[in-house]
Amino acid sequence: MSGRLAVVGIGPGDPALLNEQAKSALADADALYGYRAYLDRVPARQGQSRHASDNRQETARAAAALAHAARGANVAVVTGGDPGVFAMAAAVCEEIEAGPPALRALDVTVIPGITAMLALAARVGAPLGHDFCALSLSDNLKSWEVIERRLDAAASGGFVIALYNPASRARPLQLRRAFERLARHLPGSTLVIFGRAVSRPDERISITTLAEAGAEDADMSTVIIVGSAETRLIDRPGRAPLVYSPRKQTVPAGSGGSSRRGGA
Ligand SMILES: C[S@@+](CC[C@H](N)C(=O)[O-])C[C@H]1O[C@@H](n2cnc3c(N)ncnc32)[C@H](O)[C@@H]1O
Repeated sequence: MSGRLAVVGIGPGDPALLNEQAKSALADADALYGYRAYLDRVPARQGQSRHASDNRQETARAAAALAHAARGANVAVVTGGDPGVFAMAAAVCEEIEAGPPALRALDVTVIPGITAMLALAARVGAPLGHDFCALSLSDNLKSWEVIERRLDAAASGGFVIALYNPASRARPLQLRRAFERLARHLPGSTLVIFGRAVSRPDERISITTLAEAGAEDADMSTVIIVGSAETRLIDRPGRAPLVYSPRKQTVPAGSGGSSRRGGA
């Protein structure tokens, strides 16, 4: 089968964070598929077709892109951040597994991008410098009960936690419930970092504590990093503070105590 499909991560927003492999795959493609806001970030090229769809139509988009590639075209599926993080690479794999055997003969590549939590972490220091995990708070494809169990496990296990999809118009209360759940395991002084539209012109970053974190501070374009007992803040005169999680374990196992230093 001569068609090709590349699932391309375009990073968090700043074009300077788009890698060379992603640039070439986007420039070479005959057809681009993706959520409209992501396609808008890719420079137009004559002769290249664009197939925009809503952000909740991942399955249909993956199926359409694969069918197009199976007809012999060079197709790119465009995703924000990294395609493997709560995004289209898994949707494409799901369709290949469920679809006709011919799809398995396609040349499929996944081109990584900088995911939101890494872009935010880099902005404030190194909060992911020790063990961490990432969780999506969306209950579109999993139950809220599972989300709560995973929040419990992550917080009691001492992980720094990156929260993707923290809020949407359809789910206004979930982030508040997630913070309440985390507070069962973590002290109020635990550092929490909000990153909205990280690396874009309207970027907004704030550092607070679990006790003070407000669910209304997040929307669909926000990623949140909740620190562990190890995560600390260094105040600096005239400069933004640094938040980091040291590489060495500094808190005894099982301790819920926070190592926060300085003011948030
Ligand atoms: C469906 S997930 C896709 C994640 C994406 N594949 C990635 O690797 O960043 C969408 C969520 O990613 C997060 N996100 C993506 N880009 C972001 C950015 N530039 N700033 C803050 N959060 C972002 C938000 O939590 C958003 O609700």
